[in-house]
Amino acid sequence: MHAHRQSGFEGGADASREARLRAALERHGRNFEEQFGRRPTALYFSPGRVNLMGAHLDYNGGPVAPMAIDRGTFFAVAERSDRRVRFASTSESGWLETRLERLAPQRAGRWFDYPLGVLRQLHSRAAALGGIDVLFGGDLAVGAGLSSSASICVGTAFVLDHIWRLGLTPLQRVELALNSEREFVGVRCGIMDPFAVGLAQAGSLLWLDCKDASYQHLPFDHQRFAVAVADTLVRRELAQSAFNQRVAEAAEAFERLRKHCPQARVLRDIPAEVLDTHERELPVELARRARHVVSEVERTFAARSALMEGDVRGFGARMFASHRSLRELYEVSAPELDCLVDAAAASTAVCGARLTGAGFGGCVVMLVERAGAEQALEDVARAFDERFGRRPGVALFGPDPGPREVVLG
Ligand code: GLA
Repeated sequence: MHAHRQSGFEGGADASREARLRAALERHGRNFEEQFGRRPTALYFSPGRVNLMGAHLDYNGGPVAPMAIDRGTFFAVAERSDRRVRFASTSESGWLETRLERLAPQRAGRWFDYPLGVLRQLHSRAAALGGIDVLFGGDLAVGAGLSSSASICVGTAFVLDHIWRLGLTPLQRVELALNSEREFVGVRCGIMDPFAVGLAQAGSLLWLDCKDASYQHLPFDHQRFAVAVADTLVRRELAQSAFNQRVAEAAEAFERLRKHCPQARVLRDIPAEVLDTHERELPVELARRARHVVSEVERTFAARSALMEGDVRGFGARMFASHRSLRELYEVSAPELDCLVDAAAASTAVCGARLTGAGFGGCVVMLVERAGAEQALEDVARAFDERFGRRPGVALFGPDPGPREVVLG
């Protein structure tokens, strides 16, 4: 028997979640003092997210069902009487030191591009405002598909809004985050991640239709069921270019299919019958990509119906089907991810499992019955260990209400 240990994540039972967060932010505040030689005036948290259904649909205009998680980015902040801006991090090397009127117009290729891209957009409003010192950190694995970038961007928008009393709406903060990633950092990302973080409501999944950005919150029974994450700890260097390649392939598949469906605006609009009739006109890989998108749209709607009828197992069955499609048709899985999903499927306590985020490595998200969750996670970790000779990070993740100030009691 292997001892139960968690290699990738800090664990924590539900009841102690807020206490754990406060303790972590208290430590973060002390790190700020060491870094900047004075006390922070405020502490903040911004969550990451898992995506339960709707894989690779956001940039194809489809529906997605993510949930903000209780792992994310920490911010310790102090205002300044001058116009200097200093950004440092406990987890990344290199720091930014500049002035509000001299913010770099271009990215530096460093971690602080993400918050800087947000700050730049608020620059004009900040004309009369003072500078700021920020220490970033957190407990979210970076590059694992848990959206550390949306967490830091939406969180930065929240922090600046709060400190400078700008009166932004949650949607405006989401937009600032999205612009930072797309325009400043230069990632061709879809809209899901900043929405999942910025519009989070504890206890619910977000249902977001990426065609028109309409959304609703879907209730989820956290008493009986829990979300668990298993991290392969695999980080592929080429994941970003492989992701961009999928975005381009999906766009090309749409270009070729739209002539058979003039009213279609995005790949999500292509009906299954149109694809059935015309898929042979497409190169085989593009046909597979389109088949994933068209079937995933249908599955995601079916999963929502199941959830709304209280059929969590029915929702989970669509997660397993989603993973198969990601593996065979969208081709974004990896042997490590498949091993975790197969092991999860063998456990009776697991309702559903699939890769989350872009894929190629990173994490598997699972829906588990709380009653058998601990054993299920142990079984999944052991199966992975037997095959790959190392433990994956496994943990239950709680839901999160979104970016907020954390006041120490
Ligand atoms: C990445 C992107 C998201 C989404 C997922 C795939 O995580 O950041 O916008 O496209 O991949 O569902």
